[in-house]
Amino acid sequence: MSELTPREIVSELDKYIVGQQEAKRAVAIALRTRYRRSLMPPELREEVVPKNILMIGPTGVGKTEIARRLARLVNAPFVKVEATKFTEVGYVGRDVESMVRDLVETAIRMGKDAKMREVADKAELLAQERLLDILVPMPKPKTATNPFAALLGMGEPEVDEAESEETRHSIRVKRQDLAERLRSGELEDKIIEIEVEDATPHTLEIFTGMGVEEMGINLQDVFGGMLPKRKRRRRVTVNEARRILAQEEAQKLIDMDEVISEAIHRTEQYGIIFIDELDKIASREGGAGPYVSREGVQRDILPIVEGSTVMTKYGPVRTDHVLFISAGAFHVSKPADLIPELQGRFPIRVELSSLTVEDFERILTEPENALLKQYTALLATEGLNLEFTPEATRAICEIAYLVNEQTENIGARRLHTILEKILEEISFEAADLDSPVDCVITKEYVDKRLQGIIKDRDLTRYIL
Ligand SMILES: Nc1ncnc2c1ncn2[C@@H]1O[C@H](COP(=O)(O)OP(=O)(O)OP(=O)(O)O)[C@@H](O)[C@H]1O
Ligand SMILES: [Mg+2]
Repeated sequence: MSELTPREIVSELDKYIVGQQEAKRAVAIALRTRYRRSLMPPELREEVVPKNILMIGPTGVGKTEIARRLARLVNAPFVKVEATKFTEVGYVGRDVESMVRDLVETAIRMGKDAKMREVADKAELLAQERLLDILVPMPKPKTATNPFAALLGMGEPEVDEAESEETRHSIRVKRQDLAERLRSGELEDKIIEIEVEDATPHTLEIFTGMGVEEMGINLQDVFGGMLPKRKRRRRVTVNEARRILAQEEAQKLIDMDEVISEAIHRTEQYGIIFIDELDKIASREGGAGPYVSREGVQRDILPIVEGSTVMTKYGPVRTDHVLFISAGAFHVSKPADLIPELQGRFPIRVELSSLTVEDFERILTEPENALLKQYTALLATEGLNLEFTPEATRAICEIAYLVNEQTENIGARRLHTILEKILEEISFEAADLDSPVDCVITKEYVDKRLQGIIKDRDLTRYIL
């Protein structure tokens, strides 16, 4: 469990997201609360329910980005779902409980990965042994004499003990020699043939009238385990073979039952579900067509957020302590348009503010994944050293802000469209360079690329 303090969480998020302190603080506190809860006496611990968060803000200001970064930060099972993907129970489509099933799947994958890493060294050794067995097989131990032959008094032909001892010895020497060469890495590219378990699942088509998904049971998993594993011969390099064999050995070393029960525990205690685009299912008026279904989805979400037990193929999972963070632009609809019960389930409201020119400037340059850094690195692969003067950066941001004001406010995403336009020519030409070139983007260049478009409002609508 993450033991980061709220301050540390916020400063981690600061590396990627500019501004939006309120939202960052809210998620940081929610996370810390879970840590505090895990330290409480068990009787009280059950009573502390998570305070779910609703993030409200225009499009493209970092709502999804905060959730995404948060997920990487904490080592907790996390899924992000779009509210619009769900349909009411009884309709065709994904039912809301699938988000909990996905969460468990994530937890299991995480748990399995962690366990695989733990046994990696051991698996590596076993894989080495198997490689040796493939390359220099030990002679098979003498099989028990054929019972019929024994009955008929026709015992096995006598084997010269001394000779077999000799061959055994020579094989052992060969194996040692080969083990040495394998370790030194000189054989990595040699092609060998190995037998692998066929990973492609057995196709079982069963028509139930319901999607397999809704049943929450993957029939393939149920029956797949009963059918014998298919083996397939593959020709691969030694390097690849080692990887495949190590994987297989690691699989055998881990106890899946333990992984599953741990994963369910982690899901129940530390799981986080991020529901994006919640505003898109918030419209109470209407009463016909899609609206009915939307309200139905809201009603279906209620018990999950409130705390209920969802059946998954790994067993029941309780959602009482799962943290829900939802987000939406709430441009057209308002949080008050959600059905009242659902509003009440998201007590913490944080607003994300629209981005200013200064915010844009920082977004372009500061985060570790900043756009200008990305473009510079992309073009560097072609031998083009891209550089932006501060005035050019400023100009880009001012234009982005202006266009956002004049047409639709799409937040930081505007920077993408504008940068693409500015760099279009350079991106196209860069591949034809013969030798490395320096390229400085000045304010004049930015103006030149965009001037014609900015002046014409209609054109702006289409191009930027
Ligand atoms: N405050 C910010 N700091 C850094 N990058 C940002 C910020 N806001 C947005 N971005 C960038 O803009 C893009 C869109 O942001 P994001 O996906 O978070 O939007 P959103 O708020 O979820 O919008 P929507 O309501 O449309 O889903 C991302 O690539 C992100 O990197
Ligand atoms: Mg989003």
